[in-house]
Amino acid sequence: MGSKLPLFPDQASTFAPDVDHLLYFLVAVTVFFSVLIFVAIFYFAVRYRRRSEQELPHEIHGSLPLEILWSVIPFGLTMVMFTWGAALFFKESRPPNNALEIYVVGKQWMWKLEHMEGRREINELHVPLGRPVRLTMTSEDVIHSFFVPEFRVKQDVVPGKYSTLWFEPTKTGKFHLFCAEYCGTKHSGMIGSVYVMEPHDYQTWLSGGAASGTLAENGERLFSDLACGNCHKPDNSGRGPSLVGLFGKTVQLSGGGTVKADETYIRESVLQPAAKVVSGYQAVMPTFQGLVTEEGVLQLVEYIKGLAPPRPEQQEKQQKTAPER
Ligand code: CUA
Repeated sequence: MGSKLPLFPDQASTFAPDVDHLLYFLVAVTVFFSVLIFVAIFYFAVRYRRRSEQELPHEIHGSLPLEILWSVIPFGLTMVMFTWGAALFFKESRPPNNALEIYVVGKQWMWKLEHMEGRREINELHVPLGRPVRLTMTSEDVIHSFFVPEFRVKQDVVPGKYSTLWFEPTKTGKFHLFCAEYCGTKHSGMIGSVYVMEPHDYQTWLSGGAASGTLAENGERLFSDLACGNCHKPDNSGRGPSLVGLFGKTVQLSGGGTVKADETYIRESVLQPAAKVVSGYQAVMPTFQGLVTEEGVLQLVEYIKGLAPPRPEQQEKQQKTAPER
């Protein structure tokens, strides 16, 4: 139905039919009650019009069945809308674990995208068909919003935090990418295209172009350029905590409380190190605000994510060799 009407964008993701069905339901309910109310107004206006100057209407003292009826029916309908909408919302907020990860940085007025393998794009996003894609997004300046109408997804891109968005394309082709949050003079020009490709075409595309190392490799280089390793030693002997195996763990904070070591926590720790200090450590780390770009932070995050904890046998070896040093 949707694809024939120019009013509706193409359905090109797994969400698209679900979102459209909910929309059709909302429109149908709205049209039904608008018609019902207008017909009733005209009918009552004619049926109960004043027929002579002397006519006085009967007094009416309410009707319990009627009151119940017009409370219960709208309540039921709005509950259907709520549960239906909430179910869709939860589905759209929970990216599956096997999703392809891509990083997005918005700035006035362009979209910068980076694939794990290091391939970068501006105002263009290439993704494979039939695979869930998860975007981790932030902004360098003001609030933007990542909007792909054909996928029925839209998510704010906010400075100072990461937001995520996921979708699974169901159609190859070129689709519109918009900024859907007014962000300054050239907001309307902050547009681009999403290209959905056959998986093998995507692999070919991914291996083409001049990638300068993977995201994690660039992160490792940045980590050593900034001398992070001087304090964050892998064996925990430095002035800062070891970052090995940190990602995804729950961290004890000095002054009580805990935090989950996710992208947002790592980003905050690079830019505002004093905000959440790990229990047992001093707040001696300088801020890297202004020294690292948002893309740099993403590279660091990706590098830290990959710092896997040593396997048990390696740990044993470390313990054996430790006293000798
Ligand atoms: Cu970016 Cu509007």
